[in-house]
Amino acid sequence: MKSPLFFLIVFQLFGSIGFGHPGHVVENNYVAKPILADLNFLQEAGVPVFYPDKKNNLGFAYITPAQEERISMLAHQKGKCAGFQSLEGTEINREKILGMFHGLETSNQKNKLYDQMSIFSVQVTEKPAITQALQSLKIENLKTWVAWLSNYPSRFNKLKEPNKHVDALVDRLKQMFSVSANNPVLKPQVETISHRSTEQKSIRVTIPGSLHPDEIIVLGGHLDSINTSYFGNKAAPGADDNASGSANLLETLRVVLTQAQAERTIEFYWYAGEESGLYGSTEIANAAQAANKKVIAVLQLDMTLFPGEGIGKIGSMTDYTSAWLRNYLKSATSTYLNIQILEGECGYGCSDHASWYNAGYPTIMPFEARLDTMNQNLHSARDVVDANSSFEHSFEFF
Ligand code: BES
Ligand code: ZN
Repeated sequence: MKSPLFFLIVFQLFGSIGFGHPGHVVENNYVAKPILADLNFLQEAGVPVFYPDKKNNLGFAYITPAQEERISMLAHQKGKCAGFQSLEGTEINREKILGMFHGLETSNQKNKLYDQMSIFSVQVTEKPAITQALQSLKIENLKTWVAWLSNYPSRFNKLKEPNKHVDALVDRLKQMFSVSANNPVLKPQVETISHRSTEQKSIRVTIPGSLHPDEIIVLGGHLDSINTSYFGNKAAPGADDNASGSANLLETLRVVLTQAQAERTIEFYWYAGEESGLYGSTEIANAAQAANKKVIAVLQLDMTLFPGEGIGKIGSMTDYTSAWLRNYLKSATSTYLNIQILEGECGYGCSDHASWYNAGYPTIMPFEARLDTMNQNLHSARDVVDANSSFEHSFEFF
């Protein structure tokens, strides 16, 4: 079964549309963690809220480990992930927090407006070039990439040497370019992006567009991994989270490099430090916003390997994403294949798409399952390729 998400976004849609303080809180020598979380969770967990955002039902608070556990428990009971977004490592002040709420609100308003504009309700019709490109994707390549990435003991951003796998992947990308006969036409470039918030680097591959090179399509996922257990094995293979989405992007890139030049610029990202608080993507999205970059759409892939709802069913996050892109996804899937899309929400900015959404850009995030049926082995040494992994499922995300 072939699934067209990437290709539709890259070739079809974008071939046809143009548009445009509080200080530290210390408890028993423990420096509490700054977070953004669902306002109800914070209230239910008895956590004092420093800045509430009633409109978006979000709150900024500092939490202790005990409170963190309570929030996570509440979140899990409601079928959500950790239940909060950590702001550790980021500079915290009133303006910054209120600025984040404002960015979120701006994106929400934009979303509503776009929803009412017919230009944003795109019906996907089949294009032979896409069908042909989809047929050249290889499931074997996904297996090879996931094995290669998850073989690193950890890809955590706070390792002593947090860029081993990053540098190695850049070398592999350069190799990939060297065998692509289409290079003189497409002129792909690869670069690493250094960050202020972490020593780990992000990777960007840029393929300039022919007709509207200033308009950018972002396809990304986080390359880092984490092990959150307090004791024992700190291995973080991160096969599902997120070698899988990273591999989808790598195989997409390989096939894009064999195609005709797209009208718009495509940027592929493998982000740093997502697991510690969306570090890489926050800096990248904020820089794009500051430079007034015209990012038309952002697709995030984070976890595609565990078929929690069965093959043929994928999730799609409804928060921190844009309705018109989600509708586009539905239309694309119904045109090209028989996949069912199950909408659900994270309840907070649970992956890098939130960084872009907060910066005012349209986003979409297909996901492996529903939150209550997703892989429960994430963030542990057990997140490896095993009998429950399905590359067939991961292959549905193309
Ligand atoms: N892939 C995970 C979480 C996730 C779960 C994404 C369900 C989508 C659906 C992601 O890498 C992660 O762990 N995110 C953190 C939040 C982040 C801001 C540190 C989390 O959910 O705890
Ligand atoms: Zn992840």
